[in-house]
Amino acid sequence: MDSLLVYGSYGYTGRLIAREAVSRGGTPVLAGRDERALTRQATDLGVEKRVFDLEGDVAANIEAFDAVLNCAGPFVKTAEPLVDACLETGTDYLDITGEFQVFERLRHRDEAAKNAGVTLLPGVGFEVVPSDCLAAFLHERVPSASTLTLGVKGNGPLSRGTARTFVDQLGTSGVVRRNDRLLEVPLAFDTREVDFGDGPEHTVTVPWPDVVTAAHSTGIPSIEVYAAVPSVAPHGMAAVDSLGWLLERRPVKDALERVVDATVDGPSERELATDTATVWGQVIDEATGERASARVRTPNPYALTTTAAVSAATRLLGESGETRDRVPRGFQTPASALGSEFLLALPGTERELLTAPNTSNEPEATALESDD
Ligand SMILES: NC(=O)c1ccc[n+]([C@@H]2O[C@H](COP(=O)([O-])OP(=O)(O)OC[C@H]3O[C@@H](n4cnc5c(N)ncnc54)[C@H](OP(=O)(O)O)[C@@H]3O)[C@@H](O)[C@H]2O)c1
Repeated sequence: MDSLLVYGSYGYTGRLIAREAVSRGGTPVLAGRDERALTRQATDLGVEKRVFDLEGDVAANIEAFDAVLNCAGPFVKTAEPLVDACLETGTDYLDITGEFQVFERLRHRDEAAKNAGVTLLPGVGFEVVPSDCLAAFLHERVPSASTLTLGVKGNGPLSRGTARTFVDQLGTSGVVRRNDRLLEVPLAFDTREVDFGDGPEHTVTVPWPDVVTAAHSTGIPSIEVYAAVPSVAPHGMAAVDSLGWLLERRPVKDALERVVDATVDGPSERELATDTATVWGQVIDEATGERASARVRTPNPYALTTTAAVSAATRLLGESGETRDRVPRGFQTPASALGSEFLLALPGTERELLTAPNTSNEPEATALESDD
C-alpha cells in the first residue's frame, strides 16, 4: 500500500485504520495538520508522514500518491478540499463519511471525476458499506423494486469525532427519498417496528446517507432509513427538531462540542472486539408485490469501518492482481465500486436472507451466508 495517503490518521478511527493497513504489510503515508501527533504515530508504526492543512496547497502534498483515504471529519469541512486536489492530480479519493450532504455534493463531481480518470469513493466505513451492499444484494433479487427500507441497530459507544459530527449536524432536518427526489422531513418523522433478530424493535427515520448512496447503487426511487431507538427517543428527537433554530447557533454547538471532548472517548479494545451491529433491509415492487428482505450482522461499527476502509483502499490500488481495472471511475458507492459481496469478505460479517421472490412474504430464516 505504498501509494496510499491516510489523511486525519491520528484521530480515533484514523489510528485504527493506519494500524490495520500497516498490520497487513502496507506502508501508508500518514497525514494531517498536527505535526507532534503525526511524528509520534509515524515513529510508532515505522512509516512516513506529511504535515499539511486543507487551507494551503493540498494538490502539491498529494500528487505523489495513487489514492487518498480521508479519515478527518466532519467531512463537510474536509472532503471538498481533498477532492478538488484529487481531481487536479489524478488521485483516487476514499473517505469514511456518513454525512449524506457530503455524498450528495460528491455525486455532483461525477463527470469531473470521470474526465480526470479518478474514482471518488466516499463512505467506506460502517456507514455505508453494510447497508449499501445489502441494498444491492436485495435489488439483485427484485430488480424492479420501487421501494427500499433499511433499519440499522448498532451497540456500543461513539468516538469523539462521531459525536462531534453529530453535534455539527444538529439543527439540520431528516431526509428521505421519494420518487427519486430527496425530501427534507422532520427528524424521526416516521416510526416502524423492525426485527433485527430478537423480535420487533422500535425504530425511527434517520438522515442516513443511503437515501443518496442506495439510489446510486440500485436506482430504486423511494428509500427510507430507520434506526433502533428506545421508545421514548422519538419525543426527544422531536424536541431536538423543534429546537433546530437554537441548535444551529455556533455558541450552543461550541458548548456541546466541549461536553463531547470532555466526556466521549470511543470504544475500548474490548468493545471493538466484542460489540456487534445489525442492518436489516427490504425491497418491494409496489406494482407486483414482489419483495425480498435480509439482515446482515457485522462487528462493532468502528471495527467494521477499519477493515472495510483498508480493504476498499487495497481494491482501489489493485494490489490483489487485476482488480484496479474493474473499479469504475467517477462517483461510486461501496457496492457500485466493489460489488454487493464486498461486505462478506470482511471478517465477522454474515448475511441472512429472510424473504425472497417465490418464497412466503412472512420473514423466514434461511441459510446463513458468510465467508467466515
Ligand atoms: N462511516 C462511518 O461509519 C464512520 C465510522 C467512524 C468514524 N466516522 C467519522 O469519521 C470522522 C472521524 O472520526 P474519529 O472518531 O476518528 O474522530 P476524531 O478522533 O475526533 O479525529 C478526527 C480527525 O480529523 C481531523 N480533522 C478534523 N477536522 C479537520 C480539518 N478541518 N482539517 C484537518 N483535519 C481535521 C483531526 O485532526 P486535528 O486533531 O488536527 O483537528 C483528527 O485527526 C467523524 O466525522 C466520524 O463521524 C465515520
